[in-house]
Amino acid sequence: MRKRALISGITGQDGSYLSEFLLGKGYEVHGIMRRCSSFTTHRIEHLYQDSHEQEVRFKLHYGDLLDPLSLRRVISDIEPEEVYNLGAQSHVKTSFEQPAYTAEVVGIGTLNLLEALRDYQDHAGHAVRFYQASSSEMYGNVREVPQSEVTRFYPRSPYACAKVFAFWQTINYREAYNIFACNGVLFNHESPRRGETFVTRKITRAASRIKLGLQDKLFLGNLDAKRDWGFAGDYVEAMWLMLQQQDPDDYVVATGETHSVREFLDEVFGYLDLDWSDYVEIDPQYFRPTEVNILQGDASKAEALLGWSPKVSFSDLARMMVDADLQTAEQEAALVAAGYAV
Ligand code: NAP
Ligand code: GDD
Repeated sequence: MRKRALISGITGQDGSYLSEFLLGKGYEVHGIMRRCSSFTTHRIEHLYQDSHEQEVRFKLHYGDLLDPLSLRRVISDIEPEEVYNLGAQSHVKTSFEQPAYTAEVVGIGTLNLLEALRDYQDHAGHAVRFYQASSSEMYGNVREVPQSEVTRFYPRSPYACAKVFAFWQTINYREAYNIFACNGVLFNHESPRRGETFVTRKITRAASRIKLGLQDKLFLGNLDAKRDWGFAGDYVEAMWLMLQQQDPDDYVVATGETHSVREFLDEVFGYLDLDWSDYVEIDPQYFRPTEVNILQGDASKAEALLGWSPKVSFSDLARMMVDADLQTAEQEAALVAAGYAV
């Protein structure tokens, strides 16, 4: 019998890579998606199209982390062995503008899912393994560099505060109700499928368009912030590995390197033979009320116990993202040449 996995946030960057990974392992993959007035499935469209057999093993269900009834219904219908909670309002800057909504989705949404799983395990008698998408943002105003599983949290945004709540709920459900629940404390991870408003993708998309003459300026905020950027495709393997262990635990997943936004600009514009200072302007609207200045992870526990290590370097990640965005920009340029507005 195939293992069944349920993923919240399946339409997001990580949801798409995790789906691919689990399908590759032979799983039946189910995803919770929100109803929207337009398509949100562009990142997972190819999983339907890959093969008929795959189509049967990949299913989407309408639901919402803020709708506990929908979570209970999906869980009892599917009877999953593994549940990955990736759903979130995941944009840190937006969380300052929508703090209550962010806290609801990230904090209470996680609690809703854990409660549904508690009932499922206690009353239906099914053992389930739970992965919580915790975040390096929880370290915030960092107490030490690098940050590991024992570093104290100091969250600096409504998003990060809500992630701390979800982190501790995950541990509490593990200890109180014997649920196999793990926190993956993941540092920033990017890809060609990264949302366009996160800084790396904003830069690779704009630089590609600038290269092809489709735009001439890029407006950014704090260029001095430093992040530990890895490749999302590498990181979903660590999520899965956590749920294959003998005992549940919490792990940091990171590259161990840190780079500033400025260095990412150097890498991307340099690859395109451009000088970013000719195009980048600072716009105060992109600064945050409180900033996280530096993140740098110590993933030695994941390396020792899970046998996990990152494969894609900082430079290869930037180039992979530029190559993908250049292809899109070329299609846009062709449309412009044909007289269409893009
Ligand atoms: P993402 O691309 O922003 O995807 C977020 C997903 O959550 C989307 O599928 C979104 O659906 C869904 N979602 C939003 N609100 C929801 C709700 N109320 N109910 C159900 N689903 C909802 O994020 P990501 O980069 O893949 O990150 C995945 C998870 O890891 C998130 O929890 C994020 O906070 C966390 N994380 C990310 C990073 C990183 O660097 N990427 C690092 C650490 C932790 P729609 O498509 O309908 O909007
Ligand atoms: N988004 C954005 N847009 N960020 C900018 C900009 C800009 O125009 N200019 C500078 N930055 C800086 C931000 O101030 C921040 O210091 C850094 O670039 C990274 O910002 P994001 O790419 O938005 O990511 P993040 O680090 O705030 O959050 C991401 O990583 C977290 C893990 O540490 C998100 O994926 C979170 O969901 C995730 O938990």
